[in-house]
Amino acid sequence: MQNDHSIGVVFTPREWAKFAIEEFSIFNDWMNGSSIFDPTMGSGDLLLALVEYGIEQGVSLDQLPIKNLFGNELKNNNYQKAIERFKEEFGVDLTTNFTNYDLLTLKSAKYDIIFGNPPWINFSDLPTHYKEEIKEKFHSYDLVENAQKLLLGGSRIDLAALIIQRSINDFLSLNGNAYFFIPLSLLLNDGAHSSFRKYKIGTTSYALKCVYDFGRKKIFKDVATRYGLVQFKRDESTTYPIDYRQFEDNLWNRYQGKPLININDPLSIYGLNKTPPLDDFEPIELPKHSTPRQGINTCGANSVFFFNSFVSIDQHTCLVNGKDILPLKFVHPLLTASNFKEKKPIARKWVLLPYTSLGKPLNAETLATTPLLKSYLDKHKSKLQSRKGTMIGSWIKRGIWWSLLGVGSYNFASYKIIWEAYGKITFRPLLMNSKWQVNQALQCYIPLNTKSEAKAVLLKLKDPKIEEYLLSMKMEGTMNWAQPGKIKKLIKFND
Ligand SMILES: C[S@@+](CC[C@H](N)C(=O)[O-])C[C@H]1O[C@@H](n2cnc3c(N)ncnc32)[C@H](O)[C@@H]1O
Repeated sequence: MQNDHSIGVVFTPREWAKFAIEEFSIFNDWMNGSSIFDPTMGSGDLLLALVEYGIEQGVSLDQLPIKNLFGNELKNNNYQKAIERFKEEFGVDLTTNFTNYDLLTLKSAKYDIIFGNPPWINFSDLPTHYKEEIKEKFHSYDLVENAQKLLLGGSRIDLAALIIQRSINDFLSLNGNAYFFIPLSLLLNDGAHSSFRKYKIGTTSYALKCVYDFGRKKIFKDVATRYGLVQFKRDESTTYPIDYRQFEDNLWNRYQGKPLININDPLSIYGLNKTPPLDDFEPIELPKHSTPRQGINTCGANSVFFFNSFVSIDQHTCLVNGKDILPLKFVHPLLTASNFKEKKPIARKWVLLPYTSLGKPLNAETLATTPLLKSYLDKHKSKLQSRKGTMIGSWIKRGIWWSLLGVGSYNFASYKIIWEAYGKITFRPLLMNSKWQVNQALQCYIPLNTKSEAKAVLLKLKDPKIEEYLLSMKMEGTMNWAQPGKIKKLIKFND
């Protein structure tokens, strides 16, 4: 079979392959008779590292059980290269041990140990024809409920998850160990990978045993995501907390890892001999309408909806950006980072919301009775109508092309508890009144109707346990720092 697709071709540096061999005693198990399989072997680096490691240990080549090394690779020239390298470097022909297939269609076989580095690539970034070809596998390997939805939804699930599920289910012996280099989004991100964190395929379950998080250490050149090395064991269930090690200042520091709230949640990481964050935390009770939310999304039209200057002209009108006159009641102050450092926030940006106070976009008739607003929007009609995206597209199709996303009655709730959700390392919620609006994913908020309710929630959110919980998710400084999903888990809805 000739295949020259390039899907996630990044090879493991020898030094780190040997690190895994050493940490997990893979060499000893191999010497004691275990067969070893790399399901996506590239040009064979992990398997070659085993042989090299053995020789460095003083074991002679003819004592090494090389015929117990097995590998598979999709890309034909990598596969050929793996065969050549074994021949050239060690004079061994492994043609009969190596296969050149898509692992997803390779005939199953059982090996004692799996040692691999699967392709790391999001499903949505795969070639279209390949997505169509393999989407059903995500369903049959227990990663999505509905394969069609996967195709439509642009899911952020990683192909690595599927390769791991297939490897463990169809290529690993009973109670066997699997060691993989993986993108840590599989273990640490909310959303698409929670299904992976069931660690199960049909009736086969496996345990997450331990994680080595490489932290800031650059092991794979040109790879921006966070990655680690993990051990899984077939036919066991995970016992939390697991052993979690992180590379920091050239040291492997030891931590514990455990999902805090729901069993498939991302791992939270906390110190040895420490109790897990939120251990005795009482959920915050709130009505459904106080669900945490992201801010307003203009779908690429900030220049139309956001303003850098504002002067009120009279009771009903204002001048924005020094040139456009708009009805005052549709222009609101928009939070900026500086507001989080001030005792009394000063507006520096403003946003136009052509909405009713119930959070519905104005209809065409109402707009027609508001000439200043209508003429401003008409001036930008073609830009607003050409915005891309399924959700905004459906508003545009219905003729309401002045809509935004992330606007509803919640924008006009009497109080908001607001926090910076993106790129931060601290959690400092503030109580604001209804006029302040929140900008996309930069800030998030909980809408509330009464001041006493808002004050009580603020007090709860200021509990240091919450920042500790967020820090334990290892997302500080990233876009996922304190997005609504994380805070929502702390809430018990009472209606
Ligand atoms: C991250 S590289 C790792 C290679 C090797 N295990 C290593 O650590 O050096 C992943 C490899 O998987 C191969 N690959 C991608 N999709 C595959 C599939 N469906 N079946 C088999 N191999 C695949 C790629 O061609 C690439 O060589």
